[in-house]
Amino acid sequence: MATQTRAMPGPFSGLSVKIIATIIVVILAVEVVIYLPSAANFRQSWLNDRLRVGTVAAHVLDAVPDAMNLPRTLTDRLLNSAGALAIVYRREGQSQLLALDNVELPREAVTVDMRQRDPATLIMGVLDTLLFGSNRTLRIVGEENGQPDRVIEVLMPEAPLRADLLVYSRNLFFLSLILAIITSAVLYVFVSRILIAPIRRLTANMVDFSEAPENPGLIMAPSDRQDEIGVMERGLATMETDLYSMLRQRRHLADLGLAVAKINHDLRNTLTSAQLLSDQVANVDDPKVQRLAPRLVQSIDKAIGFAQSVLDYGRQSATPPRPVPVDLHLLLDEAAFDAGLVGHPSIRWRNGVPDAVSISADPDQFARIFDNLFKNAREALEAANGKIEEPYVEVVFDETPDWLVLTVSDNGPGLPPRARENLFVAFEGSAKAGGTGLGLAIARELTEAHGGRLNYVDQPLGTRFDVTLPHAIRIA
Ligand SMILES: Nc1ncnc2c1ncn2[C@@H]1O[C@H](COP(=O)(O)OP(=O)(O)OP(=O)(O)O)[C@@H](O)[C@H]1O
Ligand SMILES: [Mg+2]
Repeated sequence: MATQTRAMPGPFSGLSVKIIATIIVVILAVEVVIYLPSAANFRQSWLNDRLRVGTVAAHVLDAVPDAMNLPRTLTDRLLNSAGALAIVYRREGQSQLLALDNVELPREAVTVDMRQRDPATLIMGVLDTLLFGSNRTLRIVGEENGQPDRVIEVLMPEAPLRADLLVYSRNLFFLSLILAIITSAVLYVFVSRILIAPIRRLTANMVDFSEAPENPGLIMAPSDRQDEIGVMERGLATMETDLYSMLRQRRHLADLGLAVAKINHDLRNTLTSAQLLSDQVANVDDPKVQRLAPRLVQSIDKAIGFAQSVLDYGRQSATPPRPVPVDLHLLLDEAAFDAGLVGHPSIRWRNGVPDAVSISADPDQFARIFDNLFKNAREALEAANGKIEEPYVEVVFDETPDWLVLTVSDNGPGLPPRARENLFVAFEGSAKAGGTGLGLAIARELTEAHGGRLNYVDQPLGTRFDVTLPHAIRIA
């Protein structure tokens, strides 16, 4: 448990930190987009204020009959209140100039025409002021009350505008930052209660359960939430319950299998003793005994064969193949011999594998694949009771750059429908009296253990199985 808790991310790592960081970045990014137009607005009204004060000053001038002889101190005060170096008022072709005393007017000034109000110009104005506005002089040009024939010009340094714009920007930045922090803090609490905490609960449960899936106490207890988290909790609980019962069932089956294997083993030994006795009984001269003994011997042989094949099936799935170089032609001949094909009175055996083909395979397991296929073919041909002309079993060898293909076919009666339905399914596939239904299941498992495939290929006549093996197992 301790290691799992350590494996979980802490409260400030993992999902929640990612969420908070994303929110702060997004809010700041949005603020940048909002900032430019609002700063443009601020600059515009700042300039308008100056222009308005300039207009008032111009009107004062206008109202005085002898403007040229106004006292200098009054003129200077008027100009200072507008923060201006000079004011020009143009009206009906006339123009009046009001300038600070003892100040030389700069030769160059940047014109800001308040009559141009398109957003791009306004935003460019902000950037222009912030970047280059520390030492320049502005010439603000505007109309009085929207009358085109009354134009006011105010000449003033740009530095105060820039300073005010900087203060405005700084305030806006801090305001956004505070907003971002508050928003993300609120969201953090919200998200961690609604999302992170349940997800952590789910994750912790998954980790715990995967460590000990046989412990039913670790199965998730879902809450009654109706959202996606609730669905996830219930899904996890169902999955864990299924897994738990599957594991339990498997353990029971494994125990059962072991018990069956033990019983089967002892049964085979008992049958072997019975076989010895029945062999002796067969030697008794009594004619009745002579008549019954062969059947007794046959039944016991069959029972031993059955016990043996069940034992083999259990054993072969446990041992992986141990490959060594094997001569394929020879190995198939031996398998055919074991299956009773070599020297058979009626069935012809044809081995189509060329002489010098060597592969890397487990000789016993590999031979059992063909042993089972050949035995099935022989049994089918024998069961046809001589109704088939020139019965044969053959293997044809073929190879592609990727595969070796061994086709095993016979000209027997073909697969009965019952066998087709459960082909390759252990204990299920048999369609003949005394068959265990293990032969093909074993053959397929052993082929797959060698990296290959065993397939039934439907044909109009006889039966055909293809053993397809990766070309890599060929060594000569
Ligand atoms: N070459 C074949 N021709 C006709 N039928 C076949 C052939 N091969 C297999 N079968 C059918 O497929 C069934 C399944 O074969 P499989 O080898 O799996 O089991 P089995 O031969 O019945 O029993 P076991 O091999 O375990 O003793 C057989 O019962 C048989 O009916
Ligand atoms: Mg068989």
